[in-house]
Amino acid sequence: MWKLSWKSLTVCAVCLFGSLALSEPRKVIIDTDPGTDDAMAIMLALNSPEFDVRALTVVPGNVTAAQGLDNALRMVSLANRCDIAVAAGAQHPLFQKLITAEFWHGKNGLANIELPPSKCKVDPRWAPDLIVQMVHENPHEITLVPVGPLTNIALAVEKDPSIVPLVKEVVIMGGSISGGNVNASAEANIYNDPEAAQIVFQAGWPLTMVGLDVGDKTLLTRKHIEALKRNPGPISDFIYKVADFLIALSEKFGDSGTPMYDPLAVGVAIDPTLVKAPAMHVDVETRGEFTRGETVANRRGAIERNVLHHFPDGDRYVIEGLDKVDANVKVCTDVNAERFLQMFVSRIQGK
Ligand code: RIB
Ligand code: CA
Repeated sequence: MWKLSWKSLTVCAVCLFGSLALSEPRKVIIDTDPGTDDAMAIMLALNSPEFDVRALTVVPGNVTAAQGLDNALRMVSLANRCDIAVAAGAQHPLFQKLITAEFWHGKNGLANIELPPSKCKVDPRWAPDLIVQMVHENPHEITLVPVGPLTNIALAVEKDPSIVPLVKEVVIMGGSISGGNVNASAEANIYNDPEAAQIVFQAGWPLTMVGLDVGDKTLLTRKHIEALKRNPGPISDFIYKVADFLIALSEKFGDSGTPMYDPLAVGVAIDPTLVKAPAMHVDVETRGEFTRGETVANRRGAIERNVLHHFPDGDRYVIEGLDKVDANVKVCTDVNAERFLQMFVSRIQGK
């Protein structure tokens, strides 16, 4: 007869409770400019057991702040989640005019799909204040997932820098170290508010950048969305229509699938093993004529030290060594795209 010792019982209990503790859903705030891929990100987050979505904070980007707020309210209502705080924030970028993207997202920002009016009420707090309050109320527990321009996040940090060490981590959709989608150098979320992005990138919190480098490798195709059609439901049907709109747009430009930019940021926050993300020092260019909005990554982690010398034949700088630069961002450079796409479809279908 196998006798259970107290020691083995204790070990089993620790393992059991340890694993339960590990499966505590993460408290999440999504900052969003909804937006078609934002919609897919939000519905993935709301249908993932690893997440306890506490708030959607709305930032202007793909659409105006007012349109984005209406879209966010309609989506939490569609998901029967009026418990989630939906708050308005900035009405424009910090220092430049807003650039809206109805060209890519449809007139209303949701692929011209008319969701039913929301049953939910807007939260009266200003989004940066809501972020600050929730972080102080839940120290070391809040994960921020910004999937639009970083205006609200920058305003929250500027208003109360003490939140930086209290945030569990920040996982953004934004940036690129392999060229832009707005132009040769800049990705849209960074381009729409470069000063805000530089504040967020230099704040000093654990930051993961889910940029074009991996988003462009993660293409949702008609094969993937057929599974959504086979398992209908209000959310699944909505996401099918959004994805169909995006894939048709991609096909117009010769591609076979639509890049899952925002949903992949949610996926990486759920399961970081989906990506390779080496730490690098990244700055956001705010002045370049051709590069404003570029996320400039130092892959080598060092800068040459140039020292001024006065020689008889004139002054010049001489390289005298290398100075280390500290990494501030985990930059996603590769992704298991199919594993993510299966995660996405399996969590949306039938909902
Ligand atoms: O560059 C892609 C990003 O810009 C995504 O967040 C998309 O929604 C747009 O905001
Ligand atoms: Ca977005």
